[in-house]
Amino acid sequence: MTRVALSAVVLGMAVTLVLGGCAVAREPLALDPTPTATATPTPTPTPTPTPTFDTALYSIDDPTSLWVVVNKLRPLNPTTYVPGDLVQANVPATQDMLMRAETAVAAEAMFAAALNEAGLTLRLESAYRSFDSQTRIYNGFVNSLGQAGADLTSARPGHSEHQTGFAIDIGASPASCSLDQCFADTPHGQWLAANAYRFGFTLRYQNGLTATTGYEFEPWHYRYVGVELAAELNSLGNPTLEEFFGLPPAPTYAG
Ligand code: DAL
Ligand code: ZN
Repeated sequence: MTRVALSAVVLGMAVTLVLGGCAVAREPLALDPTPTATATPTPTPTPTPTPTFDTALYSIDDPTSLWVVVNKLRPLNPTTYVPGDLVQANVPATQDMLMRAETAVAAEAMFAAALNEAGLTLRLESAYRSFDSQTRIYNGFVNSLGQAGADLTSARPGHSEHQTGFAIDIGASPASCSLDQCFADTPHGQWLAANAYRFGFTLRYQNGLTATTGYEFEPWHYRYVGVELAAELNSLGNPTLEEFFGLPPAPTYAG
């Protein structure tokens, strides 16, 4: 390589180094504008709707309504009301008895589940009772317990849920604590307390709530209200129908 050529190479390397150094030195001094963050649109989260239970979906006054509330302050209207679709449910029972058709469908499913899921045979103890039938039963309690005692146990005619065709009294088979508060401690009573809501039933006269319902604890008396309401009641810790619908307590009759 000639001296000239060598000089050219050395010069070229120097230029490269200088330029390279400049390039390296320039970097931190760069005053490039801070890049604007690319505006990635944040999707607005769709609010999860809080499912609100429509407490006005069905009447609580109409005796034909799934949600009718009958108590000492809320007689059936008319008091001699008879449901139009009474049928006999295909379940074990102490005698032939009737109930509203949709109560029967639900009772059949519930009795079958008790047997299939837990090996428990339930038995129907009472279902629809007419005004006249309730009169006989109530009068029998008055004779044996006196009126005050009867009123804690049996509805006066025209005031019984049994007259709606939506209420059923359930026992065990073989019989154990039938229509007795000790039914609550039987496997049958406990299975019902835990599972009846799945089939649309609610325990109507709960322990310690006589001041609200008007009746002593009846762990055998289940009221069909449909799966939606029964599940809602269960999720709320099983308030009474009076509490759920904001109705006054009904410990005694008005007059
Ligand atoms: N035992 C319930 C309260 C009725 O007679 O309807
Ligand atoms: Zn009953």
